[in-house]
Amino acid sequence: MEIIHVSAECYPVAKVGGLADVVGALPKYQNKLGHIAKVVVPAYDTKFIRENDFEVTYDAWANYGNNHFQFRVFKEKTNKLGFDLYIVHIQGLTDRPNVYGYADDTERFIAFQIAVLDWIVQWEHRPDVIHCHDHHTGLIPFMVTNSVKYATISTVPTVLTIHNAQYQGQFGWDKLYYLPAFDLWKSGLLEWDKDINPLASAIKCAWRVTTVSPSYLEEMMNNARGLESLLRQERYKCVGILNGIDTEVWNPETDPMLGKSYNIKTVEAGKLANKTALCNVFQLDPSKPLFTFIGRLVDEKGADLLPDIFYTALQQHGDNINVLVLGSGDNWVEGRLNQLKDIFGGKYNAYIGYNEQVSHEMYAGADFLLMPSRVEPCGLNQLYALRYGTVPIVRRVGGLKDTVVDIGDGGFGICHDQTSIWDVTHAINRSIELYNDKKKFKAVRKTMMKIDHSWDRAALNYTELYQILK
Ligand code: ADP
Ligand code: GLC
Repeated sequence: MEIIHVSAECYPVAKVGGLADVVGALPKYQNKLGHIAKVVVPAYDTKFIRENDFEVTYDAWANYGNNHFQFRVFKEKTNKLGFDLYIVHIQGLTDRPNVYGYADDTERFIAFQIAVLDWIVQWEHRPDVIHCHDHHTGLIPFMVTNSVKYATISTVPTVLTIHNAQYQGQFGWDKLYYLPAFDLWKSGLLEWDKDINPLASAIKCAWRVTTVSPSYLEEMMNNARGLESLLRQERYKCVGILNGIDTEVWNPETDPMLGKSYNIKTVEAGKLANKTALCNVFQLDPSKPLFTFIGRLVDEKGADLLPDIFYTALQQHGDNINVLVLGSGDNWVEGRLNQLKDIFGGKYNAYIGYNEQVSHEMYAGADFLLMPSRVEPCGLNQLYALRYGTVPIVRRVGGLKDTVVDIGDGGFGICHDQTSIWDVTHAINRSIELYNDKKKFKAVRKTMMKIDHSWDRAALNYTELYQILK
C-alpha cells in the first residue's frame, strides 16, 4: 500500500517532541513490511535545504483565500532515512526558525495542507491512505472529502492519529475563506464549540482515528479538552495503537552520541562510564543515584511541580542524590529550575534548552527518569529509558500506564497515582531503596532492557487498520 504521512514534525528534519520521533520511524518500519510509506512536512529552514540533499520535485502556485502563494516540494535524495521524505517550502510562511509559536500558525498550517493536497491531486495515481498527525494536518480529511478541487481524490481514505488532544488548533470563522471552495452546508464538519477546530474536524471526517496508546483513548472519553462527547460519538472508528521506538536510533550498543556503548551484558560498566562523564560535565557526583527529567516544561508534563519536587527531595536526602534536568518551555519553570542551581550546587544542575546529544547522554548515564505527567498520550522518554537501563518513575496515566509496571508488581519501574509533590517524593524514596538494593537494581535493569518496544508490532497494527479501509 502507498501511505502518505502528513505531519508538522519528522525526525531528523524538524523535531519539537515525540511526534517527530514517531513520524520519523513508523514509515521506515512500514516500508520493511513491503508498503510504500512517504512523509511530507513543511520546510522550516531554508539553510537546511541548501546544505542538504534535496531536489525540487514540484513547483506551483496555490490559491489561498483571495491570494496566491508559491510553493515548492523538495524530495530528500539520499534514501538514508528508510522512507521518502518530502518537504514543502512556502516562502514567508513555512520558512521560520521554529516549528510553532507564531501569530500566524493557523495560516502557515492551512497553506501547508493546501499545498500538500494540490501536489497529491495532480499525481497520475492515487495513494492508498493519507495519514494525518495532530491538528496541524487536521483539515485534510475535511478538504479531501468536500473540496471541489480535490474531487478526484475524494475517495482516498484518511486516517488521523491523535498524539495530543491538548492542542486543537482552533481559529475563528473569519478565516474560513482560506479554505478551498466547498458546499457551505458542510461547514458543521469544521465546527466545534463555535470555532473552526481542525482536530475536531479530523475526528469527524477521517475514516479512522487512532490514539498513541489504548489507555489514552479511554481517558479521552472523559477528559479531552472539550472533545469528550465528540470522541464518545465517534468511538466506533477509534483505536488505540501504542507507539514503538526506533530501535536503530535508540540502541545503547550503537548510539554514536554515547561516550561508551553498552548492551545488556555490559550494562553496569557501560552506564557507570556514561554517568561519570555526564556528572563531570554537570558537576555532579557519580557515586550517588542520578535522577533526571527530560522534556517540554509544560503543565501537562507536571513541570510546574518539578522545582518543588526537587527542592523537597534534595532537602530530604541531603547529600545522597543528584538531580539533572534537560528541558525548555514555561519561563517561570525555567527560572525556578535555574535558581535551584544556586541552592544545591554540586548535587543539582539544569540544562535549559533543547539538546538531542545531551538527551541521549542522559538516558544512558541516568539511574532514574521522572515523568510525573498529568496527561501522557504515549510518552517515548520512558521507552528510551527502558532501552538504556534507566528506571522510569512515572505517573499511572495514558501510555505510561500501558508501558511501565511497578517493581511491587514484579515489574521494572516505579509508579505513582497523582501528579503531586507528595506522590513523586514518595516515589523518589522508593527509588532510593531500590538503588541501595544492588542485586535487585541490577536485575531490574536487565529485565527492562529485554523488553521489545520496537515499531514492528505497531506497524502491523496500522496495516490491519488500513486494510479495513480498502
Ligand atoms: P512529547 O512529544 O509530549 O514532548 P514524548 O515523550 O513523546 O513527549 O517525546 C519527547 C521527545 O522529545 C523525546 O525524544 C525526548 O528525548 C525529546 N526531548 C524533549 N525535550 C528535549 C530537550 N530539551 N532536549 C532534547 N530532547 C528533548
Ligand atoms: C505527543 C504526546 C506524547 C507522545 C507523542 C508521540 O507529543 O504528548 O505523549 O509520545 O506525541 O506520539
